[in-house]
Amino acid sequence: MVSRVLFLLAFAGIGYASQSACKCTPEDSCWPSVDAWNALNTTVTGKLIHNLPVAISCYPGTYQNDEECAHVYSQWYNSTFQELSPVGYVYPTGVSCPAVDLSKGQNPEKCILGAAPVYTINATEPAELAAGIEFAQKNNVRLVIRNTGHDMLGKSEGYGALQIWIKYIQTGIDFHETYTASDKCASSDWTGSAITIGGGYVWEDVYDVAFKRNVVIVGGGDPTVGCIGGYTQGGGHSPASHDYGLAADQVLEAQVMLASGSIVTANACQNSDLYFAIRGGGGGSYGVVTSMTVKVYPSKPVVAQSLTVSPITASEDTDALLDAVTDIHEQYPSIMDEGFSGYGSWSINSPTKLFANETVGYVHTAAVMGKSLAEAQKISAPLLKALQKYNGTSLSVSVSWFEFPTYAAYYQAVSGRKESVGTGNSALTSRMIGKTALTSSRAQLRTMVGVIAGEANEYTINNVELVAGGKVLTDVNDKYSSVNPAWRSAYIVEVVARGWADESTAQSVKDDITYTKGAAMSLLTPTLGSYMNEADRNDPLWASNFYGTNYLRLAAIKKKYDPTGLFYCPTCVGSPSWYQQYLPGTHYGPLCLTGI
Ligand SMILES: Cc1cc2nc3c(=O)[nH]c(=O)nc-3n(C[C@H](O)[C@H](O)[C@H](O)COP(=O)(O)OP(=O)(O)OC[C@H]3O[C@@H](n4cnc5c(N)ncnc54)[C@H](O)[C@@H]3O)c2cc1C
Ligand SMILES: *[C@@H]1O[C@H](CO)[C@@H](O)[C@H](O)[C@H]1NC(C)=O
Ligand SMILES: *[C@@H]1O[C@H](CO)[C@@H](O)[C@H](O)[C@H]1NC(C)=O
Ligand SMILES: *[C@@H]1O[C@H](CO)[C@@H](O)[C@H](O)[C@H]1NC(C)=O
Ligand SMILES: *[C@@H]1O[C@H](CO)[C@@H](O)[C@H](O)[C@H]1NC(C)=O
Ligand SMILES: *[C@@H]1O[C@H](CO)[C@@H](O)[C@H](O)[C@H]1NC(C)=O
Repeated sequence: MVSRVLFLLAFAGIGYASQSACKCTPEDSCWPSVDAWNALNTTVTGKLIHNLPVAISCYPGTYQNDEECAHVYSQWYNSTFQELSPVGYVYPTGVSCPAVDLSKGQNPEKCILGAAPVYTINATEPAELAAGIEFAQKNNVRLVIRNTGHDMLGKSEGYGALQIWIKYIQTGIDFHETYTASDKCASSDWTGSAITIGGGYVWEDVYDVAFKRNVVIVGGGDPTVGCIGGYTQGGGHSPASHDYGLAADQVLEAQVMLASGSIVTANACQNSDLYFAIRGGGGGSYGVVTSMTVKVYPSKPVVAQSLTVSPITASEDTDALLDAVTDIHEQYPSIMDEGFSGYGSWSINSPTKLFANETVGYVHTAAVMGKSLAEAQKISAPLLKALQKYNGTSLSVSVSWFEFPTYAAYYQAVSGRKESVGTGNSALTSRMIGKTALTSSRAQLRTMVGVIAGEANEYTINNVELVAGGKVLTDVNDKYSSVNPAWRSAYIVEVVARGWADESTAQSVKDDITYTKGAAMSLLTPTLGSYMNEADRNDPLWASNFYGTNYLRLAAIKKKYDPTGLFYCPTCVGSPSWYQQYLPGTHYGPLCLTGI
């Protein structure tokens, strides 16, 4: 079979035909010897880690330690805790070593690394990344680039892989009052302020610097997300993206380590195709970004609205709620055109509280920058008017207003909380939705809302991200932007998620997310797409849904900068050249060539 694939490849003249069919794993005789790993460890001055599952202390053997296990169990949903381990994940594709609740007498079952990489270089210098790249290349070992491990599509996992970890490459976060290109590139007309993020920082670190200077930076809604990796390279939405554009749109220049191990500058003057690719074409694909310089903006006062809607009686009938959710969706374009943006969630039966003690309802915090309270109230008056008919009859509608002197004060009060993170037992999908779909047919919109609400016993949770419109639309003329073109006509991103308690229902939940809920949203917005960083990892149409018409151009750039396909991640550009040969009963396995 393998030789036939290679034979076909030789004639096709594409793919990576000179390589072996599969990457070497610890099960294979071609796996590097202990001596080879030790030599690598010497090269990286002892920074090579043999990875151990985060919850190893809960299991019999050398590392068993009840006290440590209790700590791990208590911290399992803390993303900062997971980020400190080279194999800690926030939304893993599976859990191969669960934390054990010893206090409830739970018994440890099985603990293996599973989809996680085998070794990690805990780099502090770019040269150590280069050593890892060279080693992986030379020894035919799968390579993974990681910062926080926040990725939800398995992009920072990798069975049998060597991982290069950029977290501790930290050369500083530098504020520039007035930006000038490091190479005097004249193609940049940005003369405002900028911040250089020199390595594996998370947004919390960068907000500290930005807020001290009282500037707005387009960064994560959650402060634990990494800055220069998957978030920015995959698009990056923010409480500030409606006003200033996506995170990818802010990138003025970057330092990128290529598959050859050399570091280049990517901007509008040098390697401008690579510059294009890392500004929205996805992390983990073209090279390792070691530093980025991004635009920042003077702060403005912010007026925020908190809106909650919930049924008056805990009745089974949620029709009124879904009617109101439809009315609210219809109003998004008009409030956003006047400056509102923010985040909301709604559910007919949420597994966690939406607000106060409510698990049935709708809630959002939406804010407008640089306008007065009176102006903001005037803008949202039609929205509140649309909800009057329910108020006191079927639903309880409540509004509060808050005024903040600066963006920093708003972010810290409303947005910047550290969310409790997910588990491996969940599936989600997202869809960008534009003005036409939100305003042209109420009947179709109401049908879609009904489908994605699901049944009460499904515990579906819907998040609505009012993060596009505004500057995200007008940045359409940025010729160095590779974000999914769907962003340029989107107002909101709707994210639908479900979990499962029992593995036997996992497949039906995944199918419901892909083929019922995801499909209902696609039907409403057939020409738009999904946000690749918050997307369905099982989407069969991922290439067009995540990248749109940019896919082919990005694939050509990938081929130019990474000719052997060293940087692989699932649903990333170039990934169809490989497949994971699943081990029995798993969703991971050796990485092998497909011949595409
Ligand atoms: C709690 C939480 C909150 C979130 N909030 C937001 C939000 O507000 N807005 C938003 O847009 N998204 C948000 N996301 C989604 C987020 O954008 C993705 O999870 C993203 O992949 C995280 O990037 P990372 O670099 O931190 O993660 P990682 O898992 O470390 O990396 C993700 C991908 O980027 C690659 N990568 C990492 N570092 C580099 C690098 N230096 N060079 C090249 N490739 C690299 C990895 O190989 C991988 O493919 C959130 C996710 C979580 C879990
Ligand atoms: C690498 O070397 C350091 C320092 O000598 C050692 O502590 C560590 O265990 C080594 N790593 C591996 C994977 O052997
Ligand atoms: C989360 O983990 C970090 C890192 O270990 C720790 O500093 C923080 O206190 C933890 N947060 C909570 C709520 O336990
Ligand atoms: C990685 O290296 C950093 C900096 O040298 C160190 O603080 C951290 O503890 C290391 N992490 C692991 C898991 O070894
Ligand atoms: C939630 O319910 C608890 C217990 O009934 C009650 O003590 C608490 O005040 C409620 N909280 C809110 C915000 O309504
Ligand atoms: C809904 O009705 C309540 C009770 O009459 C009132 O206090 C509240 O302001 C109304 N909500 C809105 C948005 O008008």
